[in-house]
Amino acid sequence: MIQPTVNSDLRPFHEFAEYVTKLVQLSRTSHVEPGWESKVDAALNGQAGAELRRVSPLKTRREFGAFFTGTDLGARLLDLCSAFDRNSVIYDPTCGAGDLLVAAARRLPIEKNLNATLTQWGKQLIGTDLHREFVHGARIRLVLLARQRHRSNSKLKKTPAQFFPEIKVANGLRQIHLLKQATHLLLNPPFGLEKVPKNCAWASGKMTLAAEFVANAMEHANEGAELYAILPDVLRSGSFSENWQKHIEQLSEIRRTQSFGIFDSSADIDVFLLHAIRVKQRKLTHSGSWSPLIAKNRTTLGDLFEVRVGTIVPHRDEEIGESYPYIHARSVPAWATVREFSESRLHSGRLFQPPFVVIRRTSRPEQQYRAAASIIAGDVPVAVENHLIVCSPLDRKVGSCRQLIKQLKLPTTNDFLNDRIRCRHLTVKAIKQIPIEG
Ligand SMILES: C[S@@+](CC[C@H](N)C(=O)[O-])C[C@H]1O[C@@H](n2cnc3c(N)ncnc32)[C@H](O)[C@@H]1O
Repeated sequence: MIQPTVNSDLRPFHEFAEYVTKLVQLSRTSHVEPGWESKVDAALNGQAGAELRRVSPLKTRREFGAFFTGTDLGARLLDLCSAFDRNSVIYDPTCGAGDLLVAAARRLPIEKNLNATLTQWGKQLIGTDLHREFVHGARIRLVLLARQRHRSNSKLKKTPAQFFPEIKVANGLRQIHLLKQATHLLLNPPFGLEKVPKNCAWASGKMTLAAEFVANAMEHANEGAELYAILPDVLRSGSFSENWQKHIEQLSEIRRTQSFGIFDSSADIDVFLLHAIRVKQRKLTHSGSWSPLIAKNRTTLGDLFEVRVGTIVPHRDEEIGESYPYIHARSVPAWATVREFSESRLHSGRLFQPPFVVIRRTSRPEQQYRAAASIIAGDVPVAVENHLIVCSPLDRKVGSCRQLIKQLKLPTTNDFLNDRIRCRHLTVKAIKQIPIEG
């Protein structure tokens, strides 16, 4: 198992403690004091994340995977949940300053008075994080929420730590007993890349820690437990994550995946939301679709075209062999039909025989066309750079290439790709899954 190590003496977020102290003071101030309500609103809506950004550099936040969930994203995730009741036990293994726990507590019932609510919530809300400043922040923010919902100045009978004994400093990958208590798991884990140990059955090389947190949660959760997670989009759309997806599907039923877009302006990474339910472990030969728009029983691009990535890596490949026309992303105008080639290159590897369509591999979701393409015609085999994806029609007809170009220009293709693969590098798998109209 991948186990992140953090030296607890290091306290990379010690400056966040000052902000938590202010929240403690706010929790002791009367709710009728002018400005109390709006200060609590701010404390529960994004201020913790803003404070974290203010006191710790991006490098540190990246190193420890500390990016708190914004209010909108947290609410979107919780909107996927069915209602909680007094028996729900909600666990966030990497709780940070409690943004997801706060979002969940907004949907928990309240009791007859403030102390009773906090006692009840303390039985239902569990959280772990490696950093004590965050854990203190999570507890005090829940106290603030309870006071705001009750509009009460009642004296608290216990400290926040006593009300929330299960929100604590701990490694979220090792709390098997907490995972077993949970009816609902909320997760926005660190996304950093970690080396995968040799004995891992579902990944090799380096893998995002998010994959490990989901796998760990699903391996140990009880049957029927529900997972709601914010995850990097590469886990849904990257071809390297197929084994991970299969592993998760063997343990759970994927109820929903929903593309969200960029996490926030400080963490420029595309995320999706996952709702899965732990089921009895089952054997699957291949994983199902993690994209809601993937066409079932419909013709897709991969049925009609052979799809491959261009083979030439310009600065790596030696220029040996015969001279051939050479194309790369900047040498073929989008949507044009190219028959004459301005560049050539010595090449001894794979060539592509026209006619075929090339799609630029790099594109952003906000661009007008996700799959800007060109037709390559003529009789001579062509050398293709690896920033282009080559789609060769199985019937070898240029008419099929024209049909494909029309299809790639359609808004439905853009919608499909924007949902299927938010990250900037289109994959062969995603291209093959493009539904073909008519
Ligand atoms: C992306 S943040 C999300 C925090 C919180 N769940 C939220 O949604 O705002 C991930 C959190 O995981 C914590 N973390 C990283 N590794 C952890 C581990 N092994 N166990 C527990 N927490 C961990 C970080 O300190 C950070 O607060």
